[in-house]
Amino acid sequence: MKKIHNLLAALTMLPVLAYSQVDYPSKPITIVVPFAAGGPSDKIARDLAEALRKPMGQTVIVDNTGGAGGTIGSAKVARAMPDGYTLLVHHIGMATAPALYRKLNYRVPDDFEPVGLINEAPSVLIGNRALSANNFDDLRKWLVTKGSDVSLANAGLGSASHLCGLMIQSALKVKVTSVPYKGTAPAMNDLLGGQVELMCEQATNAVPQIEGNKVKTFAQTGQYRLSLPALKNIPTLAEAGVPNFNVQVWHGLYAPKGTPPAVLAKLNSALRAALKDPELIKRQEALGLTIVSDSRLDPAGHRKFVEAEVQRWGKVIRESGEYAD
Ligand code: MLT
Repeated sequence: MKKIHNLLAALTMLPVLAYSQVDYPSKPITIVVPFAAGGPSDKIARDLAEALRKPMGQTVIVDNTGGAGGTIGSAKVARAMPDGYTLLVHHIGMATAPALYRKLNYRVPDDFEPVGLINEAPSVLIGNRALSANNFDDLRKWLVTKGSDVSLANAGLGSASHLCGLMIQSALKVKVTSVPYKGTAPAMNDLLGGQVELMCEQATNAVPQIEGNKVKTFAQTGQYRLSLPALKNIPTLAEAGVPNFNVQVWHGLYAPKGTPPAVLAKLNSALRAALKDPELIKRQEALGLTIVSDSRLDPAGHRKFVEAEVQRWGKVIRESGEYAD
């Protein structure tokens, strides 16, 4: 009986969805950011919302629905009406949640329509200024000697800084003490204040601290050095002797599963136009972000990439044994 009811409800929605494709978008669009305002993901989503305004011909609003490593906001979009008016900007946590959360109530990527990847940036291994280590070699020796006496901040389970920390520990074969915070702001405050010693933070958030000379900078996690003044003299982890290390924090745009192809096509072409906006490019590059211009900017390429990242991170997370319930 319930199935018949659901089917009837879906059938009555069909004319509405079909009509709404013709004049889409005819009202403001909401982008859900699954993290708090003021953090790296929020900054990216707000820049994108501004740049999408012109190609979409509509206002684009940002809704911060944070908590549980981005899974609450993601679930909200997975369950939203697939009409193109509720979208999600999420980072690498989209691909790591299936391994981290045993009780995840959405499927990745099956409950979403990937619209296109937006950008990527390395993370940066930074430390409190009082640390005795002055370069990555010193730091590595200190980590190996001190092990669990070393504290490594992160912005919460499933945050980019948590994942980067796991990856570094796995590559260096050390186990330090991870200290989870409720977001990037309190984690960074305690790093600056010396309550914790290290953090592997997204370049977006680390660069202003490096420019202000408020932290020690040991290594960056990408394949190549970023050419920003704050990072051009900082070695990649591969250069510092950790072979094949390459961690990029990426952000993508998603719609709920079942969003009509015509709406997705419109969103993808608006995303492409937004990513060519000179103001957006300037702002993102200043934060160490590289705008994506390869096949991952297509919905199919984005989906394939997310699937590969789910596999890659699943392995690291299972090895770490750090799960959430
Ligand atoms: C945020 O915007 O708060 C971050 O992207 C969280 C994180 O580090 O994953």
